[in-house]
This record gives sequence, C-alpha cells and structure tokens, in this order.
Amino acid sequence: MKTALPLAVSITIQSVYGFVSPHHRQVQRLNQAAPKTSLQASSDKFALLFDCDGVIIETEELHRLAYNAAFKEFNLMIGDEPVEWSVAYYDILQNTVGGGKNKMFFHFRNTTGAFPTSDNGNVAAPQTIEQEQDLVDRLQARKTDLYKELIAEKAQARPGVLELMDQALADENVYVGVCSASTKAAVTKVLDVTLGEERRKKLDVTILGDDVSKLKPDPLIYVTAAERLNIDPSRCVVIEDSIVGLKAAKGAGMKCVITYTTSTENEDFYGIGADAKVPDLGSKGVNLDMIFGPMKDDLGAGILVDVRDAP
Ligand SMILES: *[C@@H]1O[C@H](CO)[C@@H](O)[C@H](O)[C@H]1NC(C)=O
Repeated sequence: MKTALPLAVSITIQSVYGFVSPHHRQVQRLNQAAPKTSLQASSDKFALLFDCDGVIIETEELHRLAYNAAFKEFNLMIGDEPVEWSVAYYDILQNTVGGGKNKMFFHFRNTTGAFPTSDNGNVAAPQTIEQEQDLVDRLQARKTDLYKELIAEKAQARPGVLELMDQALADENVYVGVCSASTKAAVTKVLDVTLGEERRKKLDVTILGDDVSKLKPDPLIYVTAAERLNIDPSRCVVIEDSIVGLKAAKGAGMKCVITYTTSTENEDFYGIGADAKVPDLGSKGVNLDMIFGPMKDDLGAGILVDVRDAP
C-alpha cells in the first residue's frame, strides 16, 4: 500500500531526481486527478470504475436487517405473529415496490391485509389512513437511523473488491474511480467504512449523484468520469450490479462487468450488453490482468472470458 507523503516532500523528490516519482501520482490522487493537458495524452491508460451500492458493498441485507430491527423495537405484531421480513420475502419486496415506505404499505395492505399492533399488542393497529401513514413514517425514520448504525458497524466490501482496487491503485497505467447515484454524504460514509479513508482518498475520480443532472440509466455519470480523467470511454471498464447501471455504462461506450446477487442472478445482463457476468470478484479470482490484459492488444477483446458465467 502506498504511504501518504506530504506534498512538500514529494516535490523535493521530483526536483532532486528529475523524474516523476511514484509519489507524484500519490499527490495527483489526493488532488482528485489533476487535469492533464492534451499533450500528455493518456492514450496508454485504462480506467476501472466501480459503482458503489451493490458492487462495493451489498446494502440489501443491511436494509433488511434495519427494517427488522425497527419492527422489533416497535414490537409490531399482527395477531400473535411478530412482523419480520425474511431474505426470500425481502427479495420479492425489492422486485415489486420501490422505496421503504411503499414496501411497508405493500406488506400491510397487500401481503398481510392488516396493519400491526405496536408494543406487543398494547397499542392498537392504526384505524385511519392518517394513522397508517403516521406509523409507517415513524418506522421509516427509525429504520433509517438503524441503517446508518449498521453501515458504521458492519459495512464490509464484497469479496475481491479491495484486492482488485489495490492492484489498480498500484498500477501507474490504471485510473480508479467510484461512480454512484447516491448522495455525497451517503457514499463518503459507505466508502470510508468499506475502503477506509486512506484508500478512498487515493481514488482518481469520484462522481456522485449530486454531480450529475441525470441519473443512471442515463450514461452521464460515466461520460463525466471519462471526461474528468481525459480518457476514451473504450478504455474504461465499469463494475456494476444492476441492469440500470449496466445500461449507463454501455450507453457511455464502456465495457461492463456485472457482479450479481441471488436476487439479480436471473436478470438478462448479457442481453443488455454485459461483457462479463460473475457472482463476485473474489470467488472468481478476478485480477487486473484478467480485465485489462486482453484490452492491451485489442480494445475490442473479450474480458474475463475464462471465468465469466456462460452467456
Ligand atoms: C396492492 O393492492 C392494491 C389494492 O388491491 C392494488 O391496487 C395494488 O396494485 C397492489 N400493489 C401491488 C404492487 O401489487
């Protein structure tokens, strides 16, 4: 791992030895990819761009745990049954309704057909639409707090992510970035916990939802990343986990590797242009050379051909 070097020290090294030391790159990274002039063509470079939610960390399970923790705190019961969402059921919810409050409304209205009592039956179930809304609002607010606590305690990078990112950070010819639709505060928190602050600060580019006017599946976020790095999109490889992210990457003219989860494994990623699909980076031993090795000779070459799931 590279050690952080104070700016002054790095400049001294450069001027004494008269060449660009590895530490120069470090300083550039801390400055978030200092813009290059057109004379310094980056034509021999590649970029590896990570989506955050779902790729760097799997947030779905943490969301589920936070809902269940909130339900438990409120002692929600329907009849004699405590309200609890199983992994399989949360998958169904994920694929049926967007947004946390909608998931709860769907559960109580469509699945159970009844709203729960609170405090182990000591507080009656809501009787009016307003009371239903109030309960769901309070549950959602508590769930959000519990989710933030879970992120702070438990967020862990998905298998192989840190290893691949470190290889890329150590390679002079590969830029590394994160492109996430989430807000800056949320992503910074997640990245600091999963990557660590030191690694996060070495990223060459970070483009977030706040930075672009159109969100994925619009390609703008990836187009913007390539522009900031002054690199051709055909030299960029994106790691994504969803159809929406895949469309954004392909729309920007980049290659896209999908890491999926049990809830997305049956989606038609290849049909939408994924260059490779793997369950996760770690289990397939995905390394930098497997991604960029073939592209060095031929930008159109297939990537991860030996380890990707069959199309
Ligand atoms: C839930 O039930 C309502 C009322 O029957 C229906 O209109 C709605 O479409 C259902 N929601 C979903 C997501 O199936």
